[in-house]
Amino acid sequence: MTDESVSDFAVDWDHTDPRWVHDPYPIWEDLRGRCPVAHTERYGGAWFPATHAGVSAVATDTEHFTSRTVVIGNGRPTEEAPPAPIGVAPPITSDPPFHQIARRLVLPVFAPGPVRDLEPMVRALCGRLLDALAGQREVNAATQYAQFIPPAVIIRMLGFPEADEELFREFVHVVLEGVNHPVEERIEEFAPIEAYLDAQIEDHRANPRDDLTSYLLGVEVAGQRLSIEHVRGTMVLVLIAGIDTTWSAIGASLWHLASHPDDLARLVAEPDLMPIAVEEFLRYYAPVTMARLVKDDVDFLGCPMKRDDWILLGFPAANRDPSVFPDADRFIIDRLENRHLAFGLGIHRCAGSNLARMELRVAIEEFIKRYPKFELIDADAVTWSQGQVRGPRHLPIRVG
Ligand code: HEM
Repeated sequence: MTDESVSDFAVDWDHTDPRWVHDPYPIWEDLRGRCPVAHTERYGGAWFPATHAGVSAVATDTEHFTSRTVVIGNGRPTEEAPPAPIGVAPPITSDPPFHQIARRLVLPVFAPGPVRDLEPMVRALCGRLLDALAGQREVNAATQYAQFIPPAVIIRMLGFPEADEELFREFVHVVLEGVNHPVEERIEEFAPIEAYLDAQIEDHRANPRDDLTSYLLGVEVAGQRLSIEHVRGTMVLVLIAGIDTTWSAIGASLWHLASHPDDLARLVAEPDLMPIAVEEFLRYYAPVTMARLVKDDVDFLGCPMKRDDWILLGFPAANRDPSVFPDADRFIIDRLENRHLAFGLGIHRCAGSNLARMELRVAIEEFIKRYPKFELIDADAVTWSQGQVRGPRHLPIRVG
């Protein structure tokens, strides 16, 4: 967080402000009512559309906005570093036309078939995690359960040593939560991550196997292997996009059930409701916001945007827009019409949504099967992550 606290989020917003981190929804509701695009001079200038229409307009406009980087920081990446058109983490940091090439490469990995094949492994993992909690009356559902599930899946996909899960969570933390650190510090912070990935690439070159890392090293586009920057970048993306996001979604869903006994009882009694409930968890607690940079000065949504201003895409804010969702501020566990934006929209729409939905569904199914009743021990003890991906990081509950 920057030093000064925010007095008015409409003209000086900061997504790392403790009030935004703790409970952003009243802030966004207020902004929707009176802006609806908020501005800040922080981070060198940034905008925040709080409506569904505003978020959609920016997310689908690749002419005026670039994804060269999608995590807000104090510095700005140049066109050369990270190298265009790949960016740090293709395809999320790639613009058209290269974006389509990078996206097509990863889509088959997350298609319904391969994701179905992973489901038994995820279910068994959840079972083992719950077995390890046997006998405990008090459980930290974030640190003892949710946070272990996505890294295990991603490590398996990439073909990295299972023992490195803890290291992974540390990497994700560095990338997503250190946004306010000076640029030089950021470069230093990234060095161990790059070194680790390079060691894994070397190992896979020497011993190719059936995993995503070997696939990326072997795949060809127009008769050419991918550059090392591209391979490393996609590995970084999968680590970041695949871990913090889903861990946050699982944690937020368990937080909801721990504080809403009626919804918990209904889900336990009606397991067939799960796929519909999963969509409402995703709408209501959408964990991901991503950024764009303005390409050139432009008047957009009535705002004088300057080249290199940030735009933070509040997919979670769009999901609470009452002009699109009836009773937007109410969690309706059997909401049938639910075209939420938790996975974004436009060309960068989440490529891993099948995997995310499966992990979320299985993690909740297994948890409530083991614990049909659980509740928050102390609502004030719950803490939420700071940055562009929001989820509970400390979630003490009483089970039984
Ligand atoms: C609940 C969990 C998840 C949520 C809410 C989520 C959300 C999102 C959002 C909002 C975007 C669009 C970003 C933008 O417009 O800049 C995105 C992109 C992406 N996500 Fe996810 N994600 C989740 C889980 C995953 C998982 C598990 C993976 C795979 C391991 C994944 C892989 C990707 C990829 C590759 C992209 C970039 C697609 C592109 O640029 O074409 N995500 N995700």
